[in-house]
Order: sequence, then structure tokens, then C-alpha cells
Amino acid sequence: MNPSPSQRSGRILLAVSGGIAAYKVPELVRQLTKAGHEVRCALTPAACEFVSPMVLQTLSGAPARSELFDPGEEGEISHIELADWPDLVVVAPATAHVLARMTAGLADDLVTTLLLATRAPVLVAPAMNVNMWDHPATRENVGRLRERGVLLEGPVAGELACGWEGEGRMAEPEAIAARVGLLLSGDAWKGIRVLVSAGGTREPIDAVRSITNRSSGKMGFAVAAEAARRGAEVVLVAGPTALSTPPGVRRIDVETALDMEAAVNAEFPACQVAVMSAAVADFRPAHREAKKIKKEDLGPDQGLRLDLVPNPDILAGISRERGDRIVIGFAAESHDVVEAARRKIARKGCDLIVANDISRADAGFDTDTNAVFLISPGGEAEELPLLSKAEVAERLLDRVEKLRGVAR
Ligand code: PMT
Repeated sequence: MNPSPSQRSGRILLAVSGGIAAYKVPELVRQLTKAGHEVRCALTPAACEFVSPMVLQTLSGAPARSELFDPGEEGEISHIELADWPDLVVVAPATAHVLARMTAGLADDLVTTLLLATRAPVLVAPAMNVNMWDHPATRENVGRLRERGVLLEGPVAGELACGWEGEGRMAEPEAIAARVGLLLSGDAWKGIRVLVSAGGTREPIDAVRSITNRSSGKMGFAVAAEAARRGAEVVLVAGPTALSTPPGVRRIDVETALDMEAAVNAEFPACQVAVMSAAVADFRPAHREAKKIKKEDLGPDQGLRLDLVPNPDILAGISRERGDRIVIGFAAESHDVVEAARRKIARKGCDLIVANDISRADAGFDTDTNAVFLISPGGEAEELPLLSKAEVAERLLDRVEKLRGVAR
């Protein structure tokens, strides 16, 4: 892999922990050095059981260290100098144990000491048994590391060395090296304007009543936060919600579907990516009573009949005008999720539909987690496991990067 013109080569400290996936590390070193990066390796004692420091030293052209207190190794470069040296630290493979030690801030060997001492950004490539990855302890650790700004590449789903199938395989060396290039170039999202819609719309019936839905805005706010964190310029068109605006995001508050359509249409031409996660009311009352409708004015035992008219389809509208922009829609489905979403993407004409199964208690409206399928225009469906909405946002933006042709 040669660095693309936008990619910058840099100093990579590659921290290796003790899992079977360490057998892929020599290839990772090869890929990184070939891309022009300077690489230094540090191994946990367990990693030395899976990959030889001598191999890594030969491929990287620099001493591969594994001891914290070895006078020879410390004489070459002290562990604090080594922690200060890199532009980026890559932990590959990152075992459940090393993730737990990172979370706890332990410094009980060279690798964890370097991870605690470094000021450089850290990218981890987890690799472990699927049950270890799914364990609440690991989920909690990964969540806390993400909150501290630790970046993740993988793990990916597939056949695992332990014989199980599922998520837990380390990302391939090519994918890790491509992500390193992207992070060092720092400009994958620079100058990219991302438009996100979030929350539910509120369609007034009279001065106090309205038609709305249970959307909290959490999903769309997570997408906006992640896009901003990646360096994009983000405009968030939000229905009524109590959520606070993520850092670096410009927010436009709207109430009705017509307001949302006006805001989205005004912002869309200047955007390169649009993610429409709002739950837009499909209908609105044909007339809005300026005053509160009084029960007694309706007559004894009279119900209230509402005349509803359709709202515009905002997503279909911008999809028709998209040119070379990437347009992503969401689909809230309660049954036949994938089939319904396939029909929806064909109708709406967007580049991807994120379909959530809203019949689940832990997915869809007003939850902190989501379980989604990413549906392509050709009907291909990628199922993501139950994830936090922040993680769904990450996976979605990884896919957007692919759609934009950014190598990952
Ligand atoms: O906000 P949260 O509590 O976190 O919940 C998240 C969510 C469940 C709202 C979100 O994940 C989601 O599924 N959003 C889409 C909800 C929805 O209205 O789905 P839909 O299948 O009705 O609409 C499909 C797509 O068309 C959506 O992108 C929607 O924004 C868009 N649409 C729908 C109707 C309309 N008149 N105009 C639109 O643009």
C-alpha cells in the first residue's frame, strides 16, 4: 500500500498483547513500513508467546521491547521517551485483558505503562472470543475507553481461532494500516459538511395538542457527535428534544415536518453527506386551531374528527436532488425488517437505509442501544449486533467513508 497524496507518514508505536491474532502483526508491521511509517514495537510478556520480538525488530528496523525494567532496553530509549515518541499508538491485537487494564489505568508491564504515559491518540484493534467481546465487563470497558477518545478498528465477525463464530476477529492488517493512514492524514472529513436530522416532529392540532412520536433524538445526536468528532462540519436539524448539542455541532431546532423540510432543503445543497434519522410525521392535521379546542364545544359525547393531510417525504426529496452527495435514510420497522427496508430504499432512492427493529425493547425509539441492518440499494443487508447508539453511529460513518471512497 502506498500512501495516497493526502496521507502523511508518521511514527507508530505498535503495542502487541498476547492473543493468537498476534500472528498477523508481522504483516501489519510490513504494511505500515511500506506505507512510509516509522514503526516501533512493544510487546506484553504474553505477546512474546505468540510472535517473536526478533521478527518484529527485523521488519520494523527498530528494537522491539518487552521489558519495563531491562537495563539494556531502557538504555536504548527509556519507556517514557518511547511513550512520548509516537504520533499514534496502535494496540493490535488488543485482548480483553489489555482493554480491562487500559480502562483501569494499570501500568503493570511495559505496554500498559506506555499506554498510560503516552499523550498520543490510541487506536485499538480488539481480538478475542465472541463471548469475551460480548461480556458486560468488556462492553463497559470499551464504552469507557471510547468516552476517553480511544479509537477502535474492528473486531470483525467470522470464524474465531477458538472454534466459535462471531464478532471477535482482529481487523485485517490492511484495514488497520488504512485506518492509520486515515487518522494521520487527519483530513478524511475535513471540509466535509454533514447534515443530520434527529428526533420526532410535532404536528399541532390546536394551541396545546399535537401529533408526535417517541423519538428522543438520541440516534441522530449520536451520528452528529461522531461526525463532528471525526472532523466534519455538522449541521443538526432537530425536532423537539431535551438533549444538549454535541460539541462542534451547529443545531437548527424545528417543530413540524414542514419546518424540518425547509431547514433540510436549505442546508442540503452545501452538504456532502446527509443522514436522515428523524422520525418525521407522515401526516399533519389539515387545519391547526389557533385556540384550544374545548370539549364542551363539540357537543355531548361527541368525538373529535381530525382531517389529516400527508407531509412531504423529505428523504425522497433530497435523494432526487443528491447528485454526488451521499444520502442515508433510516427505517423504523416492526416486522419483516429487512424486506420492508429493501422496499423502502427502492422507494426513497437513497444510498443506504439503516433499518431498526422497533419491536425490540432494546432498539429503536428512546433507547440507549440499537440493533440495525445496513441495507444497500441492491438489497444487501449487513446485520450489526446490539450496540450503543454511539457505536451504531461509528459503524454507520465507517460505511459512509467506504461509500465516499476513503480507503479503510
Ligand atoms: O430518536 P431515538 O429515540 O434515538 O430513536 C431513533 C429512531 C428509531 C427514531 C431512528 O433510529 C429511526 O429509525 N429513524 C427513522 C424513523 C422513521 O420515521 O422511519 P420511517 O420508516 O417512517 O421513515 C423512513 C425514512 O424517511 C427516515 O429516514 C425518515 O427520516 C424519512 N422520512 C419519513 C417520512 C417523511 N415524511 N419524510 C422523511 O424524510
